[in-house]
Amino acid sequence: MPARRNSRRWFHDRPLRQKLILSFLAVILGGGVVSLILGTRLEHRTIFSLAESKVRHDLDSAWTVYQERLNHIRDVVRLSAAREFLLDHFGSGRKDDLAAKLDDIRKEFTLDVLTLTDASGRVLLRSRNPAVAGDEQSADPIVRRALAREVAAGTQIVDKAELMKEGQDLAERAFFEFIPTPMAAERPGEREENGMMLKAAAPVTDAGGRLLGALYGGVLLNRNFEIVDRVKDVVFKGEKYKDKDIGTATIFQRDLRIATNVLDDAGVRAIGTRVSRDVNQTVLVEGNRYFGRAFVVSHWYITAYDPIRDPDGRIIGILYVGMLERPYVDLRNRVMGTFTLMAGLAVVVLLILLAVIAANITRPIGVLVEATDKVARGDLTHQVEIETGDEIGLLAGSFNQMTEELRQASESLTQWGRTLEKRVEERTAELRATQENLVRSEKLASLGKIAAGVAHEINNPLTSIVINTALLLEARRPDDPDAEALNMIADETNRCAQIVKQLLEFSRQRPAQESLTDVNEIIERTAQILEKQALVRNIPIVKALDKAVPTIMLDKNKIQQVFSNLMINAIEAMPEGGTLTVTTRFDAPAGPIEVEFADTGVGIPRENLPKLFDPFFTTKTMGTGLGLAVSYGIVRQRGGTIAVRSEIGRGTVFTVKFPLEEPADEKNPEEVQYD
Ligand SMILES: Nc1ncnc2c1ncn2[C@@H]1O[C@H](COP(=O)(O)OP(=O)(O)OP(=O)(O)O)[C@@H](O)[C@H]1O
Ligand SMILES: [Mg+2]
Repeated sequence: MPARRNSRRWFHDRPLRQKLILSFLAVILGGGVVSLILGTRLEHRTIFSLAESKVRHDLDSAWTVYQERLNHIRDVVRLSAAREFLLDHFGSGRKDDLAAKLDDIRKEFTLDVLTLTDASGRVLLRSRNPAVAGDEQSADPIVRRALAREVAAGTQIVDKAELMKEGQDLAERAFFEFIPTPMAAERPGEREENGMMLKAAAPVTDAGGRLLGALYGGVLLNRNFEIVDRVKDVVFKGEKYKDKDIGTATIFQRDLRIATNVLDDAGVRAIGTRVSRDVNQTVLVEGNRYFGRAFVVSHWYITAYDPIRDPDGRIIGILYVGMLERPYVDLRNRVMGTFTLMAGLAVVVLLILLAVIAANITRPIGVLVEATDKVARGDLTHQVEIETGDEIGLLAGSFNQMTEELRQASESLTQWGRTLEKRVEERTAELRATQENLVRSEKLASLGKIAAGVAHEINNPLTSIVINTALLLEARRPDDPDAEALNMIADETNRCAQIVKQLLEFSRQRPAQESLTDVNEIIERTAQILEKQALVRNIPIVKALDKAVPTIMLDKNKIQQVFSNLMINAIEAMPEGGTLTVTTRFDAPAGPIEVEFADTGVGIPRENLPKLFDPFFTTKTMGTGLGLAVSYGIVRQRGGTIAVRSEIGRGTVFTVKFPLEEPADEKNPEEVQYD
């Protein structure tokens, strides 16, 4: 079912708020429709059962009216039968007077028939039609009972022949051509010629109680609207609804309407029509009461029908009452309308409430979603402000905590990364320095070995050359032409001895001979030796010596050699002249002692700095490249450090530092520092 799946998808993809509203709406509307249906049915039933019980009651009231009329006839007949003039008549046999008197009674009490018979039931006088007499009436059940000295009354079918005897006009009143209606049951024939009559009879007796005859009287019900109109007036009080009588009553002769106040469309009493098939079956065939809605002539009625029986118990007609259904339908519709309107209003109010509630529920979720989005995009400082105590509030709390933890974790991660980077850099630098030192130490070590060997081999021949040259010079006069050459040999040999000495120094073959020494003093001495040489090059030597510098244990000669090397280098770096400043400093109280040689010379290119202390590194044509290497070895041997910083074209500064105490382990000296 792709359509169904689509609609489900459609619902699933709605925002939460719409989903809530749609769900609630479905429930409200569903509930509304169900209660509307139930309400309608319940109300319908209540209203109509009310109407039905009223119509039942009305039918009983109608019977009372009917019965009253019958009782009235019976009373008139009974009282008339006891009248003096009737007894006189049987005594004297005079007729003229009697006919007039009976007819007066008949008219006074609105009877259609008032007839006197003799003791055998033969008609003596018909007050309405005196011309017809002598016929036998003893077969009539009511008359028969009067002849048996009872007063009897009841409803009876009177056939056409009998009606003709009582008066032709009565037969005409009883006559009906059937008016065809679609609902009526089939019935043979097309007309009704018999009549239906309320009839009573009473015995006429003399003073001794002897039966003289019988008097019977009756009212023909056909086209007689007295009873039905009385029912309408008494029972329904003549109430009207939209110009129509609410209550109606009808008397049927068998299934034929013979007296009614139901009007047809033309406003004429609807007599001559017949009862519906249903009612016919229930009332006439089965002899039961009938209740229910019925379409009578042109409108719907709530109706009740009861069979009318003759004195022998045979069903001969129907008594009907009906209430117009319209007022009840209108009442129901009005109530339903009000109910629906109120339900609609309730739905509207609920919807508004719903929208507010849904908004309240979904707003915090929206805030959370937004916050999640921000956090996902990397904003870990975002905090949600929901302070409800429900699940969403808890969720918001957890969310905030989670974000905070995430932020801390990320921060420490970044921090850690930075530290790591720094550490790596530091370690790399350390490693590089260590490696360079290693290389340098190795070079120094191998050079030391060579130097030691060479010095050992060369020292002895050099000594013998020096001694023999001295001996030869002593044996010559000063003007001896060989003396000059011998002097040159002596000088050059001395120079060689000096180099050998330097090499021995470098290889540390000679142990240090330390004594308490004033560093300032060594500076003064070295400066004095070099002063002339410097002044020739137009270089003053400026000394800034700290008097606080204490005396320390040093090998005087070696340290003087270091200072001399550094100062010569400085002088050689200033071919155009400049200033050499020597400064001493003491960092009290622990030291170290600092000696600084600053020149205003050419400076050292950056790439040369790492190679400066390597043996044989030189940029000079006559240089050996051993000066700094040797100085480095000496300073280190004493436990000190030597550092350099330089700027091309501006000058160079060498800094030598001596700790007060010589470290016990000399193999762990400070590293060379380059700035
Ligand atoms: N003060 C300085 N100014 C500029 N360059 C310097 C300075 N001191 C040393 N140097 C550089 O360092 C190199 C090595 O110096 P080192 O004293 O070891 O040997 P040298 O001076 O070249 O030779 P030697 O000392 O044997 O005469 C020099 O050739 C020079 O290039
Ligand atoms: Mg030098």
